[in-house]
Amino acid sequence: MAQNIKDYIALNKDRFVEELLDLLRIPSVSADPEFKDDVFNAAQYVKDRLVEAGADKVEICPTDGYPIVYGEKMINPALPTVLVYGHYDVQPADPYDLWSSPPFEPVIKDGKIYARGASDDKGQMYMHIKAFEYMMRNNVLSCNVKFMIEGEEEVGSANLGTFVKNNRQKLKCDVVLISDTSMIANDVPSITVGLRGLAYLEVEITGPNRDLHSGTYGGAVPNPINALCEMIARLIDDKTRKITIPGFYDDVLTISDEEKQAIADIPFSLDKYRQELDINAIRGEQGYSTIELTSVRPTLDVNGIKGGYQGEGAKTVIASKASAKISMRLVPNQKSEKIAELFTEYFKTLAPDGVTVKVTNMHGGDPVVVPIDSIEYRAAAAAYLETFGKKPLPNRAGGSIPIVKLFEDELGVKSVMMGFGLDTDKIHSPNEHFGIFNFLKGIETIPYFFHHYAEMKK
Ligand code: BES
Ligand code: MN
Ligand code: MN
Repeated sequence: MAQNIKDYIALNKDRFVEELLDLLRIPSVSADPEFKDDVFNAAQYVKDRLVEAGADKVEICPTDGYPIVYGEKMINPALPTVLVYGHYDVQPADPYDLWSSPPFEPVIKDGKIYARGASDDKGQMYMHIKAFEYMMRNNVLSCNVKFMIEGEEEVGSANLGTFVKNNRQKLKCDVVLISDTSMIANDVPSITVGLRGLAYLEVEITGPNRDLHSGTYGGAVPNPINALCEMIARLIDDKTRKITIPGFYDDVLTISDEEKQAIADIPFSLDKYRQELDINAIRGEQGYSTIELTSVRPTLDVNGIKGGYQGEGAKTVIASKASAKISMRLVPNQKSEKIAELFTEYFKTLAPDGVTVKVTNMHGGDPVVVPIDSIEYRAAAAAYLETFGKKPLPNRAGGSIPIVKLFEDELGVKSVMMGFGLDTDKIHSPNEHFGIFNFLKGIETIPYFFHHYAEMKK
């Protein structure tokens, strides 16, 4: 073999990090139109680095929203093709004042890169471009490879579905490779084998036709904020902490004893978990462990709520409107669309007299689980064994990547999710970071996946 990956990393790691920092300096926040130019600039940056690394046919494919960066290296039609998926857009960085250093001015502290997108997903996506660079420059690429890096993951990938449907031939592959999840710990490597689905809705309650004096009218007029709170409270049973929407659990698959045991075997300290979050107890559906609650059970959470006076000081007012953004995380074999309908129907029945309810379905996606006896899983496991010196554990994530189900349905292929982040990377939160250990370990492990996958497919 040519220069080995460890040596290549040792020689090039400072440049790898510098290039990632340059990408992190681009505030590619897809949710906020103020950053529109930056999102396009991030796409251009990814394109340029793919070209440099040796990809062919690199293009910025326009969509009705932000573009998809595509590139490929087809070395031999007889070899298997790996489609690498990732995203160059990031979550909004607010609240800015809770960051120890500005979110788009990356700094390295205690071996970690601090910036919005460091772990989700710029740092993890970039590992693939550098692993590809290594395989190209050392002539060890063992599979055909296609890159599809999108800019709308954090806002629901609305245009990626159309792109995939319209480009089935171009995207034809044997497996999708994704690094956009986490592993259990740096010394407990794991491969993500499941993602929860999502149904995300906004509800709006309207009471009187204008904001009112809360003394003059208070006591008689239906207050939409009070109503909203009462309605939300009724969505979860007080005692069992089960979601009360009729039919919500109908399609939920209960996990096997085997999988329950595998979850119980994951090293976990509830004390540490509580300490890290400054909470003195966890609160979830009765009868399940913490890891079960955050991976194999469905949830309902309010993500945002608004209404009434939000300014300094006090204002005596009954608002005309109140609204909330509500998400439900779904597990196999729940269907996002069905759950959104069940929610809408039930939520409307909870409205007290005198208010009207409007429910808007915002976005969603179906859950997935992937098999652990597949060639791609075994190839990934063999890769981790080489670079971590340990067999990885299969692990189901609580988060969602809605397009993974779409790849199964539209391209007929499974995904292998080699996440190198940690749950404590603070993705979506202030002070997001990504360990340099994790970044380099990802770059080191990916070429082994390509190697073993090509071997096992022979
Ligand atoms: N990378 C995350 C998903 C994730 C994080 C999976 C951690 C597993 C572990 C992704 O960027 C994300 O944030 N997805 C959104 C869904 C999307 C529709 C906005 C999510 O899970 O909230
Ligand atoms: Mn992500
Ligand atoms: Mn995310």
